[in-house]
Amino acid sequence: MPKRFAIVAGARPNFMKIAPILRQLDARESLVTTLIHTGQHYDRNLSDVFFDDLGIRRPDLSLNVGSGSHARQTADVMVAIEDVLVEAAKRNEPYDRLVVVGDVNSTMAAAIAATKVHVPVAHVEAGLRSFDRSMPEEINRMVTDSISDLLLCSEPAGVENLIREGHPQSRVHLVGNVMIDTLLVHLEKAKSQNTLSRLGLSPQNYGVVTLHRPSNVDDPKMLHELLEVLAGISNQLPLVFPVHPRTRARITEFGFESMLASNAQLRLLDPMGYLEFLCLTSQAKVIVTDSGGLQEESTALDVPCLTMRENTERPVTCDEGSGTLIGQSASKLRQQLESVLAGTYKVGKCPTLWDGNAAVRIADALVGSVCKS
Ligand code: UD1
Repeated sequence: MPKRFAIVAGARPNFMKIAPILRQLDARESLVTTLIHTGQHYDRNLSDVFFDDLGIRRPDLSLNVGSGSHARQTADVMVAIEDVLVEAAKRNEPYDRLVVVGDVNSTMAAAIAATKVHVPVAHVEAGLRSFDRSMPEEINRMVTDSISDLLLCSEPAGVENLIREGHPQSRVHLVGNVMIDTLLVHLEKAKSQNTLSRLGLSPQNYGVVTLHRPSNVDDPKMLHELLEVLAGISNQLPLVFPVHPRTRARITEFGFESMLASNAQLRLLDPMGYLEFLCLTSQAKVIVTDSGGLQEESTALDVPCLTMRENTERPVTCDEGSGTLIGQSASKLRQQLESVLAGTYKVGKCPTLWDGNAAVRIADALVGSVCKS
């Protein structure tokens, strides 16, 4: 009998993580892998474009849960995943393992549903902690790790956190960063896109901005301050800002559109596909962001990353990589940007095991775990 795995993806940052893992699992003999898309993200430019750019096969199952409050979205994913797992068991094709990645609501919801029907869960990107429980992702990370029996970590801090929380060493593996597998595979192709010429930009002569965290964009005062600082900076360095739908909605709701319309150097764009965005980030002078994934990609690219957060669950991006935590301080942002422009900003180094082979180590651990059981 083949071993049956289910791998779950729901939102934009999940897709770059599942792509190389799925490729590895599909290539392993005596393994049948079902790709489940929860539908947390459903817009073409937050979902389908990543399947196209990354060559991910179409999902075997699409759950179409869509948007909603945290409780509603989580509940909808749990119900739908439970149905999938229970139906499979009834057909006498039970799943041996469910794999979740990252820290979005779909990750936690799928992990809870699977654990309750006794399908063991593996969590890729386990152990990361911001120690800030006001972030929805921190709750998702803590809950998912607490019920997963295979914990696959991207950086040493993940291992340390899990051991401190009492997880047995045998369940915790440092496998490296699977998102960087995807980046390394696609970097050359991304650089050959015409994105820069289309936007009238030249390499090393612009910055890239992304902001979507509730703490930065849901409070009008905070969002206004951030946009003012960015507008100021754009007089020295043009900035391009692909805008997440959440942020776009807040800009409209708070009436900030006119303030931005008058500034040609801070350009708001629609969200971009993977290759176009990597084309932009890989040749940027600086990145200003609150995204966890982009902190990691900047470190792999050694592009200065000014992180608009008070904390990070990815400390290696600041301790070793090209990242600096700015918090929400306009003066610190200006100061660090001056340093980038003056050429005195630190040079980062790429962390151990961010080497393009994380998916192989993950697949080995996954297959090893079902063969033992
Ligand atoms: C989610 C993740 C976040 C991740 C981010 C990347 C959680 C708690 N948050 O945040 O960790 O960094 O994805 O993008 O899981 N919307 C659309 N189109 C879509 C999907 C959403 O317009 O395809 C809009 C809807 O108004 C929705 C809002 O975005 O209500 C928020 O979507 P949601 O999935 O709840 O969270 P994100 O902010 O995208």
